[in-house]
Amino acid sequence: MTVYQATASAPVNIACIKYWGKRDTKLILPTNSSLSVTLDQDHLRSTTTSRADPAFTEDRLWLNGKVDEIKEGGRLATCIREMKRLRKEEVEDKNPNEPKLSTYKVHICSYNNFPTAAGLASSASGFAALVSSLAHLYQLPVSPSTLSLISRQGSGSACRSLFGGFVAWQMGSDPSGSDSLAIQIAPQSHWPDMHALICVVSDDKKGTSSTSGMQRTVETSALLQHRINNVVPQRMKDIEKAILEKDFDTFARITMADSNQFHAVALDTEPPIFYMNDVSRAIVAVVVEYNRISVEAGKGYKAAYTYDAGPNAVIYAPERNMKEIIELIVSYFPQEGGSFKDVFGLFGSGQLVAKVP
Ligand code: DP6
Repeated sequence: MTVYQATASAPVNIACIKYWGKRDTKLILPTNSSLSVTLDQDHLRSTTTSRADPAFTEDRLWLNGKVDEIKEGGRLATCIREMKRLRKEEVEDKNPNEPKLSTYKVHICSYNNFPTAAGLASSASGFAALVSSLAHLYQLPVSPSTLSLISRQGSGSACRSLFGGFVAWQMGSDPSGSDSLAIQIAPQSHWPDMHALICVVSDDKKGTSSTSGMQRTVETSALLQHRINNVVPQRMKDIEKAILEKDFDTFARITMADSNQFHAVALDTEPPIFYMNDVSRAIVAVVVEYNRISVEAGKGYKAAYTYDAGPNAVIYAPERNMKEIIELIVSYFPQEGGSFKDVFGLFGSGQLVAKVP
């Protein structure tokens, strides 16, 4: 008997130009384009195995070993349905000899190689790995950009995790969402010197989820309108150019400015949303001062911070600066348990050093 099973993994990505706001909540179409760096496969990733079998009676999912509900009409169900549709259209309708896997129920098992308690979003890598594993299972002859159209409907930021390196999510304009997809700006090998340090400030579950927070921002923030109309389009062009030219100064300036504006837009929401805490702000101050000294000495920017919907800092920097940055962070924010490791959890606010990508 043939076993229909496939496994795939996808890494976490961290945005430099933030996605924050949907123009269509069902299809997950964003109010602005965004750009991220995908971390390397070794550090933070989701791995998913999918299996199709005519004997299965329902689609089922296990997340980190525990059964997870697949809600009817929910995001997971949408991704599975869309992948089955692609299988039917792209494979079975074109070649009637192919097994009708689209009619079988699937069992899906996914786990993250980082603790969910680490305070880092897993939905991006999770949905990207899910879609990739189903694409393997169904042997779909489609591009990662096509798959990104489907993972986007699981979680917006997941569309960017289908590529490594530097990735843009183009917001698109078609109401069907057919042009709201991810493309790779440059592979990791283009700029291997770019590294990321993840400082886990808190491993608490965040107070306001991205999904509900950004919807409130869309409904109430006037600043968001300014951001999406007057700021992000130019930033997307400028950061893309900076990446292609390996211009770290411009990359750093835009990345920090965009993180700041995203958190300003969260604050401009009614009621206001605060994702950064005192430690997050203190890390900003350290990076700002570190850059100021270097810029004044004519040596340019050395590091760029960015914060997602939580207090944890991600610091992008050329590899040669990383040792110094880690020493700085450790001296200002003394750690229990000693040195940095490329694993989590020395303590509640342990760190992770992740090479990009
Ligand atoms: C701040 O992709 O988690 O990390 O589409 O509702 O699932 P949904 O939201 P999600 O939002 C990510 C927001 C962000 C910025 C970013 O990654 O671009």
